[in-house]
Amino acid sequence: MRTAFIGLGVMGFPMAGHLARAGHEVSVYNRTRAKAEAWVAKFSGRQADTPAKAAAGAEMVFACVGNDDDLRSVTLGEEGAFAAMADGSLFVDHTTASAQVARALADRAHDRGVGFLDAPVSGGQAGAENGQLAIMVGGDPALFARAEPVMWAYAKAITLIGPVGSGQLTKMVNQICLAGLIQALAEALNFGARSGLDTEKVLGVISKGAAQSWMMDNRAQTMLVDEFDFGFAVDWMRKDLNIALDEARRNGAGLPVTALVDQFLAAVQQRGGRRWDYTSLIRLLRQTVSP
Ligand SMILES: NC(=O)c1ccc[n+]([C@@H]2O[C@H](COP(=O)([O-])OP(=O)(O)OC[C@H]3O[C@@H](n4cnc5c(N)ncnc54)[C@H](OP(=O)(O)O)[C@@H]3O)[C@@H](O)[C@H]2O)c1
Repeated sequence: MRTAFIGLGVMGFPMAGHLARAGHEVSVYNRTRAKAEAWVAKFSGRQADTPAKAAAGAEMVFACVGNDDDLRSVTLGEEGAFAAMADGSLFVDHTTASAQVARALADRAHDRGVGFLDAPVSGGQAGAENGQLAIMVGGDPALFARAEPVMWAYAKAITLIGPVGSGQLTKMVNQICLAGLIQALAEALNFGARSGLDTEKVLGVISKGAAQSWMMDNRAQTMLVDEFDFGFAVDWMRKDLNIALDEARRNGAGLPVTALVDQFLAAVQQRGGRRWDYTSLIRLLRQTVSP
């Protein structure tokens, strides 16, 4: 299939690579040219100077950029993808963004005869590199049926949840789960250490019981050794939690713990941790002063 991929960041670079390895024609665009140059040096494909040039002639255009504004810019902006996309083509957005922007872009795409799916991902950098992402999708079932076989190039789970926006709403559910989980794990590890327990032994036994989680299995060790120069940045997590908090103001859902964790993450940012993995929340607890 003739495809295009816009946004070759931590996630997009390997995802676009999986498309090329699966045998698709891939035309890539990245704002910072050096990343696109590195991509074409590593994978077979073509580099384009603008989103529009990448999207021209593609049957399916994928994007994975930062936030709502970035997404509007690469779709609707001057040199944006939408204006160049062919009638009947499909835009699949892997950015974590708001449900509102997904609905608005789907309408704009529809006006041009272009399909739109919101398809945020979970699984982090490792999931993108290993082609093991979980993809939650919102949109028309017929469009989903076209995109699903292509997305298997980098996925281990793909689910159509409902109409446009449902993928983003599902990602919000995911991030709400993570916010509470990570704060609880931070508090538990800090409590255990301050109690003088052998944390390795503690984790060895409780990770076999009801407190087990992906977070405990994959992040407890790095939290214990105070290692945070990897993973999912505090800035990104705050972006995601604020999307969820904003949606909750509309749907009336209470998110008291999420709101609190967001404020803790703001305190981590103030301590210079904008790019640290968000498990660095534990650093607030290790200080003698409260956040
Ligand atoms: N990293 C993770 O573990 C993870 C996991 C799940 C979901 N996500 C989500 O996936 C998305 C991408 O994350 P990432 O980690 O790949 O981020 P990233 O490494 O910062 O990459 C973001 C990409 O978007 C491009 N971009 C940003 N603003 C743009 C604009 N206005 N115009 C054109 N291009 C623009 C960047 O271009 P430049 O190269 O020029 O900066 C870069 O290619 C985010 O929505 C994030 O929340 C990330």
